Amino acid sequence: MDTIIFETQQELDAYAAGLIADTVNRKPNAVLGLATGSTPIGIYDKIVELYNQQKVSFRGVTTFNLDEYVGLSPDDEQSYAYYMNRHLFSHIDIPQDQTHLPDGTADNLEAECRRYDDMLAASPVDIQLLGLGHNGHIGFNEPGTALTGGTHAVELKPETREANARFFASMDDVPDKAVTMGVGSILKADTIVLAVRGSDKANIVKEALTGPITTSVPASLLQTHARVIVLLDREAGRMLK
Ligand code: F6R
Repeated sequence: MDTIIFETQQELDAYAAGLIADTVNRKPNAVLGLATGSTPIGIYDKIVELYNQQKVSFRGVTTFNLDEYVGLSPDDEQSYAYYMNRHLFSHIDIPQDQTHLPDGTADNLEAECRRYDDMLAASPVDIQLLGLGHNGHIGFNEPGTALTGGTHAVELKPETREANARFFASMDDVPDKAVTMGVGSILKADTIVLAVRGSDKANIVKEALTGPITTSVPASLLQTHARVIVLLDREAGRMLK
């Protein structure tokens, strides 16, 4: 694991965007694994900046997002599909049909998860961007006694719903289920970039990176991967070393 601690958020965002742009410039048909939440917004802004400066093109790129809420359609402003269009896809030259998120409105979620896994198997992820939940979740793989390998539907933990309530009008509007790529699928990516910021994540960063590998901290499984780049701001990295 390579860990880099940045003085400012802007530096972290620019570095992460650079890693993704470099991957695409080296391999124009690269497959990107993408995340939502507040952490990647600045990274996506920087990617759009690089695109506008004609430093990278996404015409040949395929993307897979980690997760989507169950019950929210892509035109729902709280859906992750909407988020991705708003923060990234609508600003770059990626063809819409090369962008993929699990369909949280599928009648048969089980079949939808298999469909997603089949697509991932056919297009392995070159670089996977991840954020980190306060409870150690990656994607929506919540802490527990077991972790699921492939894409699956999950019940969100109360703490995760509370953390995400800031994006919704009220707590009642926060979905209680999501579809997420499993930890097994995440670990298949060639390179993983874990971006974390903020003092409130300092404890879980330390646990995930230096604590025991355990299903009660799903991000600790990243310690088993050969190419993980951890990007932290000063606050998130303050408990390390
Ligand atoms: C989002 C996702 C989540 C978030 C995590 C951190 O697609 O998979 O695991 O990365 O909840 O969220 P933020 O960045 O909002 O703190």
